[in-house]
Order: sequence, then structure tokens, then C-alpha cells
Amino acid sequence: MNEKKYYVDQHAVVDENVEIGEGTKIWHFSHVQSGAKIGKKCILGQNVNIGNNVTIGNFVKIQNNVSVYEGVTLEDYVFCGPSMVFTNIKDPRSKYPQVGASYYIKTLVKEGASLGANSTIVCGITIGRFAFVGAGAVVTKDVPDFAMVVGNPGRIKGWFSEAGKKLEFNDEGIAYCEKSKKTYKLENGIVREIEL
Ligand SMILES: CC(C)(COP(=O)(O)OP(=O)(O)OC[C@H]1O[C@@H](n2cnc3c(N)ncnc32)[C@H](O)[C@@H]1OP(=O)(O)O)[C@@H](O)C(=O)NCCC(=O)NCCS
Repeated sequence: MNEKKYYVDQHAVVDENVEIGEGTKIWHFSHVQSGAKIGKKCILGQNVNIGNNVTIGNFVKIQNNVSVYEGVTLEDYVFCGPSMVFTNIKDPRSKYPQVGASYYIKTLVKEGASLGANSTIVCGITIGRFAFVGAGAVVTKDVPDFAMVVGNPGRIKGWFSEAGKKLEFNDEGIAYCEKSKKTYKLENGIVREIEL
């Protein structure tokens, strides 16, 4: 018997030629398009669209009403808040359509990053590891690892740990996060994990 190791709600649509990992759940009115690869233990909420050929890692959570368009890649543990928006064409014109993979501008969301509710990610950028995009932000530039970005246009307003806690740096630029049990160093506008 060919029993599926993932769950698809009866009102969701999964096209041919997709890969879906074990334990992943796909909820009502969602649509996974051809060529998409979704890792294990992901959750796709209600009304989520995964475009053609999109790759999504493991343990990714996508809240209601999010479209992950072709050209967007989500690494492991990415969190997409409700109704946040990706884009894949920078200068769309209805009269001059740009349809097809060669037109789509790539966006990479790295491991563990969180994208707040109703935020918008302009295409062609990279959101760094464990970066945090605030609710409603419009992100137009690359976001460094661990950076917290808010506003329109999105600006760095602080730094968050892997566990999503605000990092308070001492005079040496060192911060410790109780929750992730990790130490971080801020140097030259970049935050990285360090071993003490
Ligand atoms: C970004 C975020 C994590 C910041 O939380 P925080 O560190 O506790 O921030 P604070 O509330 O201390 O605010 C710090 C400053 O940033 C501002 N700020 C916080 N979130 C903001 C946002 N989303 N947009 C614009 N400004 C924001 C605050 O007004 C404050 O500004 P000030 O210093 O000028 O007074 C949080 O506000 C947020 O947007 N979370 C996302 C929630 C979400 O989308 N969840 C989805 C699942 S339901």
C-alpha cells in the first residue's frame, strides 16, 4: 500500500511532480504547484500557494494567506507570518508581461529567519540566518544574520538571538541569550555566534 507520510487537507490541491517530506501538513485551500519541493515537518496554513519549482526546507512554518512565488527559496526553520508577501518581478507591467522562470528574480530566506505578519519582501535579496523582519516591514535590501528590521523601508533596529530574544550587547560587543544558550558578538555591523 502506498500510504502518504504527509497530510493534505481534502480542500487543498497538490499538483503532479512535487516532493513533500514526512510529517508535513498542508491545510485548507492551499495549492502546491508542479516542481515544488517541500521538506519534512513543515506546516502550510490556510490559503497558502507554493509556486512552481519552489524549494522549501524542513520545519518551515507558513501562516495563512502567503504565496511563495517561483524564485523564492526558504531554508530550514523559516517562519512566514500571516499574509506576508513575497515578490518575484521588480518592475511588473500588465501590458509587457514577464512570464517564465528567466524573468523571476531570486530571493533567499536563510535558516531560521522569521518574516512578520503583513511584511513585504522585495525580490532579489537575501534574508540572513535568524534575521527577524517586524510586522508590516517592507524589506528592500539584504538583511544580515540576526538583524531585526522594521518599518518602510526596512531598517535595522536591533539584533535577535537564534531563539528570537533581543540581544543586549556589553561594551565589548558581547551578548548572551539564555534561551538559545548561545553567545553572540557584534563587530563592524555584523553579528555572529561565538564560543567562549
Ligand atoms: C519586531 C518585533 C519582534 C520587535 O519586538 P520588540 O523587540 O519587543 O520591540 P519593541 O516593542 O521593544 O519596540 C522597539 C522599537 O521598534 C518599534 N517597532 C517594533 N515593532 C515594529 C514594527 N513591526 N514596525 C515598526 N516599528 C516597530 C517600536 O515602536 C519601538 O520603537 P521606539 O524605540 O522608537 O519606541 C515585533 O514588534 C514584531 O513586529 N513582531 C512580529 C509579530 C508577528 O508578525 N507575528 C506573526 C505571528 S502571529
